[in-house]
Amino acid sequence: MSVQLESLTSRSSWQDLAQHYDGMRDIQLRDLFAKDADRGTRLTAEACGIFLDFSKNRITDETLQLLVALAEDIGLRDKIEDMFTGKRINVTEDRSVLHIALRTPKTESIVVDGEDIVPQVHAVLDRMATFCNQVRDGLWRGHTGKRIRNVVNIGIGGSDLGPVMAYEALRSYSERDLTFRFVSNVDGTDFVEATHDLNAEETLFIVASKTFSTLETMTNAGSARNWLLSQLGDDKTAVAKHFVAVSTHANRVSEFGIDTNNMFEFWDWVGGRYSMDSAIGLSTMLAIGPDRFGEMLAGFHEIDSHFRTAPFDRNLPAILGLLTVWYTNFFNAQSIAVLPYEQYLKRFPAYLQQLTMESNGKQVTLEGHPVDTDTGPIYWGEPGTNGQHSFYQLIHQGTHLIPCDFIAFGKPVHAIGRHHDMLASNVFAQAEALAFGKTTEEVEAEGTEDWLVPHRVFNGNRPSNTLLAEQLNPSTLGKLIALYEHSVYTQGVIWNIDSFDQWGVELGKVLANRIIPELESQDPPPLDHDSSTNNLINKYRSMRGRSVQG
Ligand code: F6P
Repeated sequence: MSVQLESLTSRSSWQDLAQHYDGMRDIQLRDLFAKDADRGTRLTAEACGIFLDFSKNRITDETLQLLVALAEDIGLRDKIEDMFTGKRINVTEDRSVLHIALRTPKTESIVVDGEDIVPQVHAVLDRMATFCNQVRDGLWRGHTGKRIRNVVNIGIGGSDLGPVMAYEALRSYSERDLTFRFVSNVDGTDFVEATHDLNAEETLFIVASKTFSTLETMTNAGSARNWLLSQLGDDKTAVAKHFVAVSTHANRVSEFGIDTNNMFEFWDWVGGRYSMDSAIGLSTMLAIGPDRFGEMLAGFHEIDSHFRTAPFDRNLPAILGLLTVWYTNFFNAQSIAVLPYEQYLKRFPAYLQQLTMESNGKQVTLEGHPVDTDTGPIYWGEPGTNGQHSFYQLIHQGTHLIPCDFIAFGKPVHAIGRHHDMLASNVFAQAEALAFGKTTEEVEAEGTEDWLVPHRVFNGNRPSNTLLAEQLNPSTLGKLIALYEHSVYTQGVIWNIDSFDQWGVELGKVLANRIIPELESQDPPPLDHDSSTNNLINKYRSMRGRSVQG
């Protein structure tokens, strides 16, 4: 095993790639395909029911070999084992990173600090299942005896994005008699709009927060409690039937006034953005039921096992991660677009933004030295075909190189008319257009007037992956998420960064807490920020009718 002491760019495996890039920079996908009839079937990989076509990337077989050589040189295989065996790879928080344990079958064990954590995971899953069945079957009743009809998840970041994304993705598998809402923003609008048409007697709040101290979540939870009590005659005992908590902090849950019998726990070794398959997924389980939640976990687990065992040149998450390094560090691509051709995945790009950017938006190595390459790219996207009528113009003809991940399905969730064939034709067409473009000669041959020709040329050579699965269902969703989780880890290992901390979100939180009393105080507060911030605070106070210093 190699120990990562030398800088990334001084490694010979990196320099081999840099040299190879010099030869690849100007190579056209058109030419690569023209002289290699098998390329489109060879540069593919399939595992766990997911087919990855990575042939429309600006790579050759040699590129893949060199990327795999880099991964091996860096010790990716050992780093994967470190994660799966509970080593404290989140070094800055001194924590294991074991989201993979959340989907490990009962029959297996993962021993951390002398304790098998798999039984703990399943004990919580079993409690969640009992609770969800009670709610879904109408046995868990509200304070006044009415059946629960509405579920409101209150959380933010990983305690919101996963639950919302999964609910939207699996809506067609959900219990349609239950209404699900999600409140995350501290902007009161979010809470008001989520609850304005709900009857408190029929409403269950899930307060989802790993730390149970996050400003937004605790503020919204307080407003939810007031909203409930104002409708139920201020009877504090009502809270027990209308609030449950998901957290790692039992004492804070009970301080808030939620009975810890109504709390579903998870653990420090689950990062917020890796928690949607922990108890943070309670709303998901309520929506789709315990069996389908189990199918989703099984999907995650299939990809976990694949990532752990498959050779890197056949390993879907490793390939995705290594290609991201290739474009980020050699082609200087700044962003990756994720384009699901499945309307139910409309929140998937937003979910991936936290997963990828909170994980790999890092400027120092594990040892605290400045990184010597760029790290995590910007992830963004929208479902197709909507994006085609919005930002695809820039991807096709703009000046930025934007590698794309297309996600498509063989079968629709809803088979109506010709919709799905049209949808699928678009995804294949987009990848084709990006890769091969349309040359000047081709545009001229269409009889286009000379002055218009340059406007109508597509340079092509714009890379993409296409992920094709049979159908969106709980299992497929689990697989897709696990794919990206492990791609993120692959990238983080290559860059030698801590993909599991998030210190970059702290400063803003601290400053906001300092500013809150300066906005709310009756008397003009003494302000000692910079002149811009002082001025903005005073302007705001004036708008709120509060006095400012003369
Ligand atoms: O934004 C920072 C962060 O800590 C995320 O990592 C996390 O998902 C989110 O806040 C919510 O945290 P919590 O679940 O503790 O409320």
